[in-house]
Amino acid sequence: MKNKILLCLLLLPLIFSTLYAKKQNGEQLFKEYCWGCHHQIAQAFGPSFKSIANKRNKGEIIAQIADPEGTYQSLGYKRNSMPSFGDLNAKELEALADYIYKFKDKK
Ligand code: HEC
Repeated sequence: MKNKILLCLLLLPLIFSTLYAKKQNGEQLFKEYCWGCHHQIAQAFGPSFKSIANKRNKGEIIAQIADPEGTYQSLGYKRNSMPSFGDLNAKELEALADYIYKFKDKK
């Protein structure tokens, strides 16, 4: 019993730090790769994350980041002006999509 409590106490910081790291990650990736063209809530060269989160699902967002050349038509654009970030791994794409979704309007 005592050991189990001790184990929980040891694991807690680990769990929190991974959760925190995941959150940090999306924001960091955004600042590193997307900030030049996208703003969280304002239209920039590209649409705001707020407007994206309000009209797309996560699959569409991930597909666009990894392969904009393959998705722009289905998203309704005449041509593609966004570079591909297909070298990001699945976790990074997911973190970016989660970050974008944070700006979705609450209903
Ligand atoms: C060089 C500028 C540029 C960079 C860098 C860029 N984007 Fe874009 N992005 C655009 C533009 C412009 C569009 C609008 C579509 C078009 O004109 O190609 C767009 C469209 C999108 C869309 C789809 C919009 C919709 O209508 O659903 C998503 C999602 C997106 N960008 C995410 C990202 C993410 C995430 C990053 C960083 C990893 C990023 N973009 C980096 C310029 C950029």
